[in-house]
Amino acid sequence: AARTRDDLRCPIVVIMGHVDTGKTKLLDKIRKTNVQEGEAGGITQQIGATYFEKSTLLTQTARLNETEKFDLTLPGMLVIDTPGHESFTNLRSRGSSLCDVAILVVDLMHGLEQQTIESLHMLKNRGTPFVVALNKVDRCYSWKTCKDMPIREALKEQAEGTLQEFRSRASDAKLQLQEQGVNSNIYWEMGDDDWENSDFVPLVPTSAITGEGVQDILLLLCQIAQRKLWKQLMWCANLQATVLEVKAIDGLGMTVDVLVVNGHLREGDRAVFCTLEGPIVTEIRGLLTPPPSREMRIKSEYIHHKEIKGALGVKVIGNGLEKVMAGTSVLVVGPDDEVEDIKAEVMSD
Ligand code: GTP
Ligand code: MG
Ligand code: NA
Repeated sequence: AARTRDDLRCPIVVIMGHVDTGKTKLLDKIRKTNVQEGEAGGITQQIGATYFEKSTLLTQTARLNETEKFDLTLPGMLVIDTPGHESFTNLRSRGSSLCDVAILVVDLMHGLEQQTIESLHMLKNRGTPFVVALNKVDRCYSWKTCKDMPIREALKEQAEGTLQEFRSRASDAKLQLQEQGVNSNIYWEMGDDDWENSDFVPLVPTSAITGEGVQDILLLLCQIAQRKLWKQLMWCANLQATVLEVKAIDGLGMTVDVLVVNGHLREGDRAVFCTLEGPIVTEIRGLLTPPPSREMRIKSEYIHHKEIKGALGVKVIGNGLEKVMAGTSVLVVGPDDEVEDIKAEVMSD
């Protein structure tokens, strides 16, 4: 089928930033879950993946879109959570390499911190577009909660003193970004020239706890995806997939969590994986996903699929997966392919 602008895959959004800036909480807010409180020490230690359906994106941006009137056509969004702790640089690097667009989460009360800066440079080096969430806006002195409201409406409800603190902290963050060579502005104060400039970064104040600004960041990501990234998001049948993690699951044996970026993966496909001992070919015996709006790293009632379409995170069941390496690509042997060629190809990167 011809690739068209009308048939886009889900964008892959990665959430990055310093430890405890609220990355997982932000996702919990959108999912209506409580993953963060179940984490050991409240610290994320793995890459996660959550798929949001289009209907969720529409519902969660409805209020803001009454005024924005954006024609949201994406089939959904896949969001990757990453750890902010300093020891997980490799996972942040993998996350940043897998995504189309990123949210860099900054704690508005702390400004830019060490892993914020590290993440920022990873994104800049790869040329990945990103937005900055100025999170924990509810910590501004005597913030009046406006649950889940668009941020501009919430700011209108605040007293002058609260607004002053917000403005001063936001402008500090802007200066710190400037010191890292990043031009930014509060997103609704950006001019047309700023939007045209692909290096200009929009700032979105958010609260992952009370929800102000969450509509804004979601809608902004959808707008960036449809307006700026549509070429790379055009759906295509060729499989593009990467191993996120290899783990044993009770009752299922060894499974491989795969991020399918584009293309199809089907039960019965002969898939080629990389292991430390070289390539292996295995038949896909099962394709499982958590329900929409649920985190893949949390054990749940998995949904079984005959076929899945990128972008999606999927748990693959098959034989001989024990030594598959995270971060490597996955290929399938097509009807006209030579197995040896595919094996060579999968090991080449
Ligand atoms: P790591 O994954 O370990 O890097 O942390 P994280 O960035 O995922 O942060 P996490 O979601 O674990 O949140 C850290 C702490 O900040 C928790 O205690 C949250 O409840 C709190 N928190 C997160 N977002 C907000 C927010 O918007 N407002 C307030 N007041 N607290 C927040
Ligand atoms: Mg986290
Ligand atoms: Na944390």
